[in-house]
Amino acid sequence: MYRTHTCGELRPAHAGQTVTLAGWVHRQRDHGGITFLDLRDRYGLVQIVADPANPQAAKAQDARSEWVLQVTGVVRLRPEGAENPNLATGQIEVEALQVEVLNPAKPLPFIINKDEDTEEAVRLKYRYLDLRRERMQNNIILRHKVVQFIREYLNSRGFLDIETPLLFKTTPEGARDYLVPSRLQPGMFYALPQSPQQLKQLLMVAGFDKYYQIARCLRDEDLRGDRQPEFTQLDLEMSFVQRDEILALVEDLFTQMVKEILPHKRLLASPWLRLSHAEAVERYGNDKPDLRFGMELYTLNNLFAQTDFQVFRAVIESGGVIKCIVAPGCADYTRKQVDELTTFAKEQGAKGLATLALTADGMKGTAQKFIKPEEVQAIQTLTGANTGDLVLFIADSRAVANKTLSALRLLMRDRLNLADPNTLAFAWVLDFPMFEYNEEDKKWDAAHHPFTMPKMEDLPKFETDPSQILSDAYDMVLNGYETASGSIRIHRSDIQQKVFELIGLKEEEIQAKFGHLIEAFQYGAPPHGGMAPGIDRLVMLFADEPNIREVIAFPKNQAGRDLMADAPSPASERQLRDLQIKLDLRLTEKKDEA
Ligand code: AMO
Ligand code: AMP
Repeated sequence: MYRTHTCGELRPAHAGQTVTLAGWVHRQRDHGGITFLDLRDRYGLVQIVADPANPQAAKAQDARSEWVLQVTGVVRLRPEGAENPNLATGQIEVEALQVEVLNPAKPLPFIINKDEDTEEAVRLKYRYLDLRRERMQNNIILRHKVVQFIREYLNSRGFLDIETPLLFKTTPEGARDYLVPSRLQPGMFYALPQSPQQLKQLLMVAGFDKYYQIARCLRDEDLRGDRQPEFTQLDLEMSFVQRDEILALVEDLFTQMVKEILPHKRLLASPWLRLSHAEAVERYGNDKPDLRFGMELYTLNNLFAQTDFQVFRAVIESGGVIKCIVAPGCADYTRKQVDELTTFAKEQGAKGLATLALTADGMKGTAQKFIKPEEVQAIQTLTGANTGDLVLFIADSRAVANKTLSALRLLMRDRLNLADPNTLAFAWVLDFPMFEYNEEDKKWDAAHHPFTMPKMEDLPKFETDPSQILSDAYDMVLNGYETASGSIRIHRSDIQQKVFELIGLKEEEIQAKFGHLIEAFQYGAPPHGGMAPGIDRLVMLFADEPNIREVIAFPKNQAGRDLMADAPSPASERQLRDLQIKLDLRLTEKKDEA
């Protein structure tokens, strides 16, 4: 037997027992000839004491960091004054009778037992070592708890866990597909699913009624801190449900989960807040607001209807908006600080930033000379701005003003510590627009995905104004992140056809890509809907991590590479021949030269 106990479980009650432990050398030090070792496994740390007078334990002296040892010894209480209250096993130590080296280790590329700043590329290359660190172990364990909680919750409510294929056909979620060439049918490709969207809808047609899956999704898109090319969703779908039943289920699932596995976190509101998409964008500038703090956006077009300020007047006349936020206590910002904010605003796409500082001795700021006293009064009444505050104005198209001010709002959140890290501000954003106009391609795109049900009362607008069609789509947001999306689906093939046509799919294309789905809907599809919370983002927020890579065991870097295994990597001649694929890398080579 390699071990009788784990390194984390010994307590004073074990004193006197002979135990065998196995683990890694976390730390080793000599004290007057006696060797002290901290032995580590995923359950914790325990102190081993080896007396060189005992030849059976002498190997403890040679042991270095991260060697794998087996130690047999007697548990004893630590001498008075030597207890370590920060360690679960801190009352005891193990006096080594016998020490075996199960495996030595080379000197490591970084120190495991110190949470020092190791360059991310090095951490990812040696991910299996990085994962030995306490922080990473905790993250992976938390992720496990989250997933197991979900499983138990849904299993006990009659949901079926059903696997769906990875080798499939495009299921569009707005990213590029990863393609897999077929050897048996040369020239043909599978697409890896961007989500199980179509398959879960087909499971509803099949009558399974309540489905879930902890599902892998694969999307070839530009990566950011909250995006990986493969990630995990809790994918779920139900038949004969209305929107509010789905929201109630998911809200209760996460509310119970927080209570059970995150007792140190508190919910901002229970029941969760609900906002329409239009309201979220108007008040916070985006559709995934961080609701842990105020600092809302205000539209000032009416207030500035008579303005003499040329910049504001021109924007109002050209159909744009003047919007502002109030940065509390920032009236004393220096010229340099205001310039920094202006530069930041310009990086977001704004043409400029106007400021008004409400100082104890009057108004200051770049817009001060253009704003009349009665306008200042009206701004204060509308926004609640007080002496000591700094008002930030953007005059621009609605889209640019919203984007810039929502970014400024988050910047000020971080500077002024406005958001409590232990508050979880879950909320629902409802009633999304069904379509978005794609300026680049001059066509309509589905804002969520093309299987989303438009609001019935908006059906006539397909012919008149698609921008005004709302859908039965909803997002779950948390602390400034979109953590889930879902919708009631189209179960009528005539409506599905209309949507495909509006987003510019030709009949042949519809048949080739989605013929199976349209046909399925003609064989008695039940009304259905569902959603998909993103596990990586949720665990990131639960673990107070800044990046989803920290909660994924083996993530890709920003360039989509697995630095540990060095993937992607070239295929062999033989593999390409089998697939009847010839590479034509001229385009990439040209780019490299340039
Ligand atoms: P959507 O595409 O909005 O919806 O994805 C749902 C949730 O998945 C997470 N997510 C990601 N997480 C990490 N990396 C990514 N690249 C990434 N992309 C998305 C987000 C997001 O809210 N089939 C629909 C769901 C449905 O309608 O039921 C879908 O996939 O948290
Ligand atoms: P100007 O008249 O160009 O000197 O601008 C006067 C003030 O208005 C300056 O502080 C500018 O930064 C600010 N400003 C210019 N354009 C905008 C804009 N689009 N939105 C808000 N403020 C602006």
